[in-house]
Amino acid sequence: MRKRAGQSIGEAKDAETLEKVRVKYLGRNGELTKILRSLASRPLRERREIGLAANKIKQELLQLFDQKLSQIKAVNFRPGAGLDLTLPGKKVRAGHFHPLTLVENRIREIFLGLNFSVVEGPEVETEHNNFEALNIPNDHPARDLWSTFYLKDQQPETGGRKPEAGERKLLRTHTSPMQIRYMLIHQPPFQIIVPGRVFRYEATDSSHEINFYQIEGLMVGQNISLANFKYVVSQFFNRFFGKPVPLRFRPSYFPFVEPGLEVDLRLGDQWLEIMGAGLVHPKVFEAVRYNHQQWQGFAFGLGTDRLAMLKYGIDDIRLFYSGDLRFVRQF
Ligand code: FA5
Repeated sequence: MRKRAGQSIGEAKDAETLEKVRVKYLGRNGELTKILRSLASRPLRERREIGLAANKIKQELLQLFDQKLSQIKAVNFRPGAGLDLTLPGKKVRAGHFHPLTLVENRIREIFLGLNFSVVEGPEVETEHNNFEALNIPNDHPARDLWSTFYLKDQQPETGGRKPEAGERKLLRTHTSPMQIRYMLIHQPPFQIIVPGRVFRYEATDSSHEINFYQIEGLMVGQNISLANFKYVVSQFFNRFFGKPVPLRFRPSYFPFVEPGLEVDLRLGDQWLEIMGAGLVHPKVFEAVRYNHQQWQGFAFGLGTDRLAMLKYGIDDIRLFYSGDLRFVRQF
């Protein structure tokens, strides 16, 4: 066998034939492999003798294979063989941002340009910050505007006891609780935006998700009025879309503003609701111990997803969260 194998190796003209020879003798079911495998069932003395001989042959054959393979390679090698320098290069696919991130980054940039600061807050909130301090008491019908995901009652912070009213944890239903967090530790005048993720326990459709993004805006100072608000938002939208966009201000109701309004914008021939807003309610200033005779402010909550849909002409919000690379790679 040693001889036959050696001869076949010597005769092999290319790597493929050589590989066949290798498999024939040294493959999993190769002749030599079988011999080595059969040793286990033989008496000890035979095992040693045959084993030593077979292993020696194996080493020799392996060496022959290696030599032959280098030989074949050396013969076949021609510099530049198979290399066509005129072919176009392979495109490197670089990573890039999700459309929602692109839009949020642009929003941040524009507001920084308008002298706003950017702050962020937690996604898990207290019932107090999300509702009560925003003048939405428990059992107030306005709570229905924000269908809520509550967290389980047993939480380490309360040592396992049932949380008291307001302590209960929830997934924030809007970015407005950051108004409270921010005002509790800052004094006016200031102007901030709060980009962030929010959650609502509601049915999804092409313009509603249970998880989406908002940008909260809050400007507090002396003699702040709706005129200031109008100026800031028109500046924002004009810069965002790179051209003047028609805006419509409609009276609306949110417990934490008075008056409250909703802003629509027109793209093409359609008006679309894009944000809620208004002048900060005196009750909210009371909750953070500001003197509401001295300070006024406006607040707004803008839907980041809706803005991204308008900007890119996307007709279904669920595409943002589909994880479908064919969608994401278009941006
Ligand atoms: C609010 O959440 C208020 N906190 C906004 C506000 C802030 C009013 C400050 C006054 C002062 P509303 O529920 O309307 O309001 O949501 C605001 C915006 O978020 C909407 O205009 C819309 O653009 C977007 N939005 C609301 N629900 C969804 C949803 N399910 N999916 C995607 N976007 C949504």
